[in-house]
Amino acid sequence: MKPRPLTDLVHELLAAVIEPGETAIDATAGNGHDTLFLAQAVGESGQVYALDIQEGALEHTRVRLETAGVQARVRLRVADHADLLSVVGYELQGKVRAVTFNLGYLPGGDRSVVTSPATTIPALRTGSTLLAPGGRMTILAYTGHDGGRRETRAVEEWCNALGSPFTVREVRPPGTPERAPRLFLVDRRESR
Ligand SMILES: C[S@@+](CC[C@H](N)C(=O)[O-])C[C@H]1O[C@@H](n2cnc3c(N)ncnc32)[C@H](O)[C@@H]1O
Repeated sequence: MKPRPLTDLVHELLAAVIEPGETAIDATAGNGHDTLFLAQAVGESGQVYALDIQEGALEHTRVRLETAGVQARVRLRVADHADLLSVVGYELQGKVRAVTFNLGYLPGGDRSVVTSPATTIPALRTGSTLLAPGGRMTILAYTGHDGGRRETRAVEEWCNALGSPFTVREVRPPGTPERAPRLFLVDRRESR
């Protein structure tokens, strides 16, 4: 049997922690599939921040959200995710339930506009500081494009160095092909 796409697994893993009314972040909005999922998961009373460095990508996201009628709960920002904290606001530190990174380039877009460790690692660091107790961050990293292997290695090293109150694991379902993207999961422990 063919393994499920990792993008579906990301949604399942995030759905397990998100409740209606909460706040979530898509740090690489792209074509908007993940933003739409988050917008549906947080519900009408929740909010989503979706960033992308390319205006054209956010336009795709905007159309997808409008088609589903959920655009009012999403703030779209053309921004580098290295600036995540100033984009979402310092007051959200420790209050965000879910953050998702789907790295690489925009499918069907300009492949030279691609995530890189110089901005991805600071963005991951910020993402972790934004997580609420019980919150979850997913990172889907690709190895097949130029620089992808180096970025995936940097992500893995950053994850491995992350200590308490976070736990980190890589999720790799049986049968996942060797060259498939790698999925890292960062969970912030519930406070006692
Ligand atoms: C694989 S795509 C994301 C797919 C998307 N999550 C979806 O559901 O369709 C990666 C996206 O990251 C964006 N990107 C690249 N560098 C970035 C950066 N420094 N900050 C924010 N977004 C960036 C690209 O423009 C591209 O749209």
